[in-house]
Amino acid sequence: MTIQKLTVVGAGSMGHQIAMLGALAGFETYVQDISEDTLRTAKEQLDSIMGRWVEKERMTQEERDQAFERLHFTTSLQEAAREADLVIEAVVEKLEVKRKVFAELDQIVQDHTILATNSSTMVSSLLADVTSRPENICNMHFFFPPLVMDCVEVVKGEHTSESTATKAMEVCDQMNRTAILLQKEISGFVANRILFAIQKEAMHLYEGGYADYEDIDKIVKKALNHPIGPFELMDLSGLDIAYYVMQQQYDETGKEEDRPSDTIVKKVQAGELGRKTEKGFYSYNTAVRH
Ligand SMILES: NC(=O)c1ccc[n+]([C@@H]2O[C@H](COP(=O)([O-])OP(=O)(O)OC[C@H]3O[C@@H](n4cnc5c(N)ncnc54)[C@H](O)[C@@H]3O)[C@@H](O)[C@H]2O)c1
Repeated sequence: MTIQKLTVVGAGSMGHQIAMLGALAGFETYVQDISEDTLRTAKEQLDSIMGRWVEKERMTQEERDQAFERLHFTTSLQEAAREADLVIEAVVEKLEVKRKVFAELDQIVQDHTILATNSSTMVSSLLADVTSRPENICNMHFFFPPLVMDCVEVVKGEHTSESTATKAMEVCDQMNRTAILLQKEISGFVANRILFAIQKEAMHLYEGGYADYEDIDKIVKKALNHPIGPFELMDLSGLDIAYYVMQQQYDETGKEEDRPSDTIVKKVQAGELGRKTEKGFYSYNTAVRH
């Protein structure tokens, strides 16, 4: 059974672009969301991005039109998923919401259908038990923004069959995305775990008074050849996200060293969330330190 029909559940930051990747790869694709507004915005954003791709001659107008013919938007999960061979769930990062979606999907989809989650932290065994098909459940973790970032982590849990993992990897290949396969589950997967480890150490050095955050950013860029320093990156992705990730890890491990750092807690409480609020570690309206 080859994958021909794809459904993406959730049309937010991640979902709509994953669906576009699917349509561009030739899959008949549905994207579903509970919000009409989100679907409308998703359509407008994709229209604008694909328009730019045509202008820049990354694709022809005909390829663009054909991809949009394969892409369908709906608020009905039933309509979106009943014929799907693969469903990628990209709803909010809340376990209870995801479990509800997986349980509903299990009732709608065909026996062979694979259900994957795009969660950036949760392993699929947290979802597999609400379905009657644990062997068809895995993680497919795309990175933001999916139309730009050429990388996916596919995670095979103990419940996941070889065939499911292989098919998920093949879909990534068809979408022109470089994928790696994790053979065992670990929350956060590979790239984000390494990133969090760097951020944690950077914070330890800063809070311990060993070096200022600007100097830590400077040396990480110069010595390790990173394009952006850990504090600059936290500002870019949002300090609320950094807080959430640390809290999630602390909830899981109970280790004191994983508790959200005082600096992050204070900044989040002050509403200094990074670039999106024009203030985090750095200031963005004046580009002056505060
Ligand atoms: N944003 C990122 O950088 C990023 C990167 C990788 C993975 N992820 C993961 O992708 C998933 C989605 O993240 P996002 O940033 O796109 O979130 P988002 O908040 O932008 O979008 C989530 C969407 O899910 C919809 N939704 C909520 N409940 C639903 C339901 N029951 N059925 C259908 N739709 C529902 C919401 O209306 C919203 O449009 C999360 O699991 C997140 O961890 C996010």
